[in-house]
Amino acid sequence: MIRSALMNVMTTAAVKAGRGLKRDLGEIENLQVSVKGPGDFVSAADQRAEKVLFEELNKSRPGYGFLMEESGVVEGADKTHRWIIDPLDGTTNFLHGLPMFAISVALEREGQLIAGLVYNPATDDMFVAEKGQGAWHNNRRLRVAERRDFADALVACGIPPLGRAHLHPRFKQELGAVIAKCGNIRRMGAASLDMAMVAAGQLDCYWERGLSAWDIAAGTILVKEAGGYVSDADGHDTMLESGSICVGNEAMHRALLTAIKNA
Ligand code: IPD
Ligand code: CA
Ligand code: CA
Repeated sequence: MIRSALMNVMTTAAVKAGRGLKRDLGEIENLQVSVKGPGDFVSAADQRAEKVLFEELNKSRPGYGFLMEESGVVEGADKTHRWIIDPLDGTTNFLHGLPMFAISVALEREGQLIAGLVYNPATDDMFVAEKGQGAWHNNRRLRVAERRDFADALVACGIPPLGRAHLHPRFKQELGAVIAKCGNIRRMGAASLDMAMVAAGQLDCYWERGLSAWDIAAGTILVKEAGGYVSDADGHDTMLESGSICVGNEAMHRALLTAIKNA
């Protein structure tokens, strides 16, 4: 695994924030059956985790800027570095007590992603990557799957929730086109983990629209460092701006993009 000073800073912050989330997951089980439900509790857990990440990273790298899902932009004195953070990716899973969620932290230097971390505290799965240093899961070097035939591909996607029903028609069209050609589909519920699982070769490819930079920044460097291809869902290199994503090995990425394009 990468043992650079930067990666130590990132993993220390994530493990500390993750300890809180794991404790809170235990609480959720009690709240599921209460009349009020776990909604407010989850958003408090989310904000607590973000505060821990902010404090830890700011202490170790003073002056870096931040883009965080809950608190938005915090300008830093150092304009060359920016953390991009989702303190709890997979909120719906977390809310339902499903142990499939993650902390996602990426670092940009001069607008280029140079490091990424995706950590699931429930399972203690730590995925990290640094530019030029490869992608790692705990102590194992990651490589995207070798599979080349789209008919064998296990493809992950994201399904827009009811609150974003305006995205449903396009999604249904794309899903129809993809299931007509691929092996099968999964909807895991955490974009950062979808990308980590593509980097690990467990999923062959993944696409989704309607995302934000914090959902996909860390996953982007993970997939690239694992030898995969990354673009937005229209084949452009502007994932963080457009909020859509398409990843896989070279052949799977191409096949998935083509299916979506022809939907
Ligand atoms: C969500 C998850 C989900 C994806 C959504 C994201 P959140 O992030 O990554 O898998 O489908 O579009 O917003 O809200 O749980 O941080
Ligand atoms: Ca997210
Ligand atoms: Ca989130």
